[in-house]
Amino acid sequence: MSYIALKHLHTTAAALSLLFFIIRAYWSVIESAVLQKKAVRIAPHVIDTILLACGLAMAYTIGFNQGWIWAKLVALVLYIVVGTVAIKRGKTPVTRGIAALAAVVIFFYIVGVALTRNAWSWLA
Ligand code: HEM
Repeated sequence: MSYIALKHLHTTAAALSLLFFIIRAYWSVIESAVLQKKAVRIAPHVIDTILLACGLAMAYTIGFNQGWIWAKLVALVLYIVVGTVAIKRGKTPVTRGIAALAAVVIFFYIVGVALTRNAWSWLA
């Protein structure tokens, strides 16, 4: 797959990941049963796997020896961990809501890293 195709797929998956995360976080805060549906539980894994695989493939092409790529990888892991608190591990709706906001902040940090190619993100 060409680099430009990987980049398009990567950014599309990133947008879908955030959109779908916000919807699921809302369902989690209002304790909706929709969250238990199989498709709703599987889709994020598919989207996030595409996001990560395309990111890794591009990183492989341009080389891993750049700080911002590692910053994105670490932040992606954080986004997923904090995301699981927002969607299922947080015990109260307030905890889950705060974790959801934190996950969105981490996501925008990553977008800033992507656009500036600098680990300082929007502050660079
Ligand atoms: C939530 C996670 C992520 C988001 C929201 C995200 C977002 C983006 C965006 C918006 C771009 C396009 C930048 C531009 O138009 O110049 C991009 C490019 C890129 N991303 Fe990600 N990314 C994420 C995770 C990752 C990870 C984990 C890796 C590496 C393992 C990665 C590697 C790359 C690379 C190599 C590019 C291409 C940069 C270029 O050629 O300009 N991304 N990412």
